[in-house]
Amino acid sequence: MKNRTLLGLLLCLGIAVLSVGAQQNGRPHLEKRGAATQLIVDGQPFLMLSGELHNSSSSNLEYMKPIWPKLAAMNLNTVVTPLSWELVEPVEGKFDFALVDGLIDQARQAHERIVFLWLASWKNGMSSYAPVWVKQDTRRFTRVVERGNEVEILSPLCTAAAEADARAFAALMRHIKEVDGTEVDGSTHTVLMMQVENEVGVLGDSRDRSDAANQAFAGAVPAQLTACLAAHRDELYPELRELWDANGAKSAGTWTEVFGEGERADEIFMAWQYARYMQGVAARGKAEYDIPMYVNTWLPSDNTPPGDYPSGGSQPRVVDVWKAAGPGLDFYSPDLYLANFEEWCKRYHRDGNPLYMPETRGAAAGAANVFYALGEEAGLGFSPFGIDSEAGDADPLGESYKALAAVTPLLLEHQSAGDVHGFLLDKERSSADFNVNGYTLHVTLDSIFGGQAESGFGLIMADGKDGFLGVGKGFRVTFSANSGPHAGIGAVEEGSFENGKWIAGRRLNGDEDDQGGYWRFDQRQVRTQKITLYRYE
Ligand code: DGJ
Repeated sequence: MKNRTLLGLLLCLGIAVLSVGAQQNGRPHLEKRGAATQLIVDGQPFLMLSGELHNSSSSNLEYMKPIWPKLAAMNLNTVVTPLSWELVEPVEGKFDFALVDGLIDQARQAHERIVFLWLASWKNGMSSYAPVWVKQDTRRFTRVVERGNEVEILSPLCTAAAEADARAFAALMRHIKEVDGTEVDGSTHTVLMMQVENEVGVLGDSRDRSDAANQAFAGAVPAQLTACLAAHRDELYPELRELWDANGAKSAGTWTEVFGEGERADEIFMAWQYARYMQGVAARGKAEYDIPMYVNTWLPSDNTPPGDYPSGGSQPRVVDVWKAAGPGLDFYSPDLYLANFEEWCKRYHRDGNPLYMPETRGAAAGAANVFYALGEEAGLGFSPFGIDSEAGDADPLGESYKALAAVTPLLLEHQSAGDVHGFLLDKERSSADFNVNGYTLHVTLDSIFGGQAESGFGLIMADGKDGFLGVGKGFRVTFSANSGPHAGIGAVEEGSFENGKWIAGRRLNGDEDDQGGYWRFDQRQVRTQKITLYRYE
């Protein structure tokens, strides 16, 4: 047993070594820069102002033609684009990359980047995107069993399916490297990242009850998993650590011995099975072309039992199990539609995991939430779902993206410096306080002459010693110096950035800064402003 634990620990440490090594190249990759992990493209940090297409839009190039310019007009720089196994390998061993090439070409013409979604073994728990030759062959490609019935979900314990999926994904990544890995007609690196599968997990039961799954569940928890849990004990997600501790923090035993009886053990078991499968698929793709790869997660509301949501997906409480299973995946993402947006962001932005949400709400909610995700949680990007039906001149997300695109170089710099803050305000939570550069910033809902904004959002970063840059709407700010003389509002300018240069607009005073009392961002439109403070005794 000692040897098995040692082997597990070595595998676990090997994971860290491999993921550091994978970062050393000029391709899109993740890099820790100061306080933030950022996506580096062509040597520069890149912020993804993105949106995810409806599932079927990118299956047809003609259909997509008019969509790209609409997305560009909405100020997106990246499109999260579905790509299915069934269209890439319609016949076993015969690959068709015409769609991939067409999508990359269309994106380049529209000056957009792509994050491809590899819809393969699983999509929303189910296996509808597997090619027909996989679907037909239930002997070779075995299914999940729930209460005695086979369902249309490939079993993550099926090694033949894992191999077929990995082989197709490797071929895809080899092809993407050929067409996008180096400069082609002046364009490089249109494809930024790959999402592996989509919202995986068993739907309809807390675990797979096939013979293979039952046998593995009755067997020992792999030493690789327990050794990783022990090596990262202090960083484990609290819920997992509590469960493990409550069952004696064992380094060996069956799944129920180590994690207790019940649905939680089932979920951890499924997390390990999906993670091993998908770490393997990702690693095979990375061996061909090493760009960032991640998984997305269907999030349940509190107290929902596993199986009512896909059991085994990379929920925060099992994400350490995913990490222990291999080095292929770089990070874990929430599909964030739930109400407590900030809390879920924090659950994912922890322990070195950067925040990116490939799916979330758009329109007015997205237009606000993006400021929190990128400003407060140093997000890699933001991506509302169904963006092609949202695109239009009047969409509030487009207004937010326009303002954020203009400040992107500064925002990236300040994400890395760790001195940018983002916030969401409403009647329930009408203020937020931040400490930046020796000042306390007290941010509240905007209010003037007895009228108060219903909601507000924005981000603020330092701009020199006694200055700040703010973007957003519906809030106002007062400043107090943390030490020394008092602080007063010296000058407020609205303006914009053109090619990185600040172009000042109106000098704001009077009602616009409530007679020098507040730095105000009214609720009518997203504005960009600079403020300079003065000090007095
Ligand atoms: C989450 C899935 O991941 C998407 O593909 C899509 O089905 C949306 N739900 C629909 O809201």
